[in-house]
Amino acid sequence: MANTILVGAQWGDEGKGKIIDFLTAKVDLVVRSQGGNNAGHTVIVDGTKYVLHLIPSGILRRGTMCVIGNGVVIDAVSLAEEIEGLRKQGIRVTRENLMISDCAHLTLPHHRALDRAKETAKGKGKIGTTGRGIGPTYSDKAARTGLRTGDLLQPVRFSERLKARLTEANAQLKLLGAKPLDFRMCKDEYLAAAKIITPFLGNTVVYLHNAVCAEKRMLFEGAQGTFLDIDHGTYPYVTSSNTTSGGACTGSGVPPNRIDKVVGTMKAYTTRVGEGPFPTENDGLGEFLHGLGREFGATTGRARRCGWFDAVFTRYAAIVNGIDELAVTNVDGLDTMESIKVCTAYKLGSKTIDYPPTDLDALAKCQPVYVEFPGWRKDTTAAKKWGDLPAKCRSYLQAIAKLTGAKLGIVSVGPGREQTIVL
Ligand code: GDP
Ligand code: IMO
Ligand code: MG
Repeated sequence: MANTILVGAQWGDEGKGKIIDFLTAKVDLVVRSQGGNNAGHTVIVDGTKYVLHLIPSGILRRGTMCVIGNGVVIDAVSLAEEIEGLRKQGIRVTRENLMISDCAHLTLPHHRALDRAKETAKGKGKIGTTGRGIGPTYSDKAARTGLRTGDLLQPVRFSERLKARLTEANAQLKLLGAKPLDFRMCKDEYLAAAKIITPFLGNTVVYLHNAVCAEKRMLFEGAQGTFLDIDHGTYPYVTSSNTTSGGACTGSGVPPNRIDKVVGTMKAYTTRVGEGPFPTENDGLGEFLHGLGREFGATTGRARRCGWFDAVFTRYAAIVNGIDELAVTNVDGLDTMESIKVCTAYKLGSKTIDYPPTDLDALAKCQPVYVEFPGWRKDTTAAKKWGDLPAKCRSYLQAIAKLTGAKLGIVSVGPGREQTIVL
């Protein structure tokens, strides 16, 4: 497989982890390039569940090199816990299969505290963040006041800088009515975690350049989804990084002319966690899916909001990411439905529009235009090839791919590796 970027084509949790794990069989390296431990990528291998937050999902396959690029934000405490957790599950994590950029910005204890305090202060107007400190970390990066993984290599200098940052943050926390943080406790906990991650640090740009020269095959593991992108998403109800395909290049240092393909992952319906617009949201569908024990967040455990497939948004995702191929997941979630709605366009006043308006007030006024598909009412979870799927299911999948404007490449009918159909 050529160098491929995999992105989420909706609002995150599209099943990227599962598809990455499946595609990893054909690559040498898996690279994360943006986001932080706000991500929760679930992979089920031989019945064992793994939830990856910062470590690329490729870690679950022996012989695959995993790289955390410069564009990722790293909470060292959380990453150290994740490494330990994987080791306890019998997964090897060594310098042979993990490298971390020494330029990645650090999510520090005060970033987490500020994220939460700001959300509390916003009250009803909150974004519904994961509370992992992502926004404040990227804010410091853009303001050029952040600390980076490389700083962990010099503990004395790191401590001085942390103290200065913490003093500022404590003043801000006080204004927000939140408890200040204790420098010594934060420093000790962070430096203890740092000991676990510093052996993995290095110049990942040069490493990836050499891998490109050696014609190694790379897979870029997107986190979050297109409409959580800081530029292209439903701002301000977004995350703070570029989740779209361009972010994979800036966040890894692998240039655009080395990328061969973009895969967009999407669910056969739509989900979203957190606040913000969701035109096709449908409480009935939510109750139905939650009743099946599905659609609870991998990072925060929150019940995901659910709605019908929205081709207006996925069409935009195809454009902004340059999606060549679609991987449609959770098809089996619709197995028992009598009929299934798909939003093909929006009505805005007297106009019919094909792309989502960028203004949230206009988006709020949009009425979805639906077409209805008959349900297939058959279990798809054992399907191994395209021909095994019921005809009505195939028609539905072909229709959503056509409406999105990209080729159907993969269909997923269950969380397991083996429940994957390649077209
Ligand atoms: P990610 O963040 O995009 O990697 O997605 P998450 O792991 O947060 O959420 C996707 C959920 O759907 C996880 O629980 C996966 O195990 C599950 N999943 C992925 N594909 C399928 C599928 O085709 N069918 C079913 N039933 N579950 C799936
Ligand atoms: P994966 O990689 C779904 C959402 C949050 C919130 C908004 C901002 O598993 O698909 P943040 O903590 O990033 O500042 O929160 O983004 N969000 C996600 N939603 N999947 C994710 O990651 C998400 N990461 C962040 O719920 O609405
Ligand atoms: Mg997730």
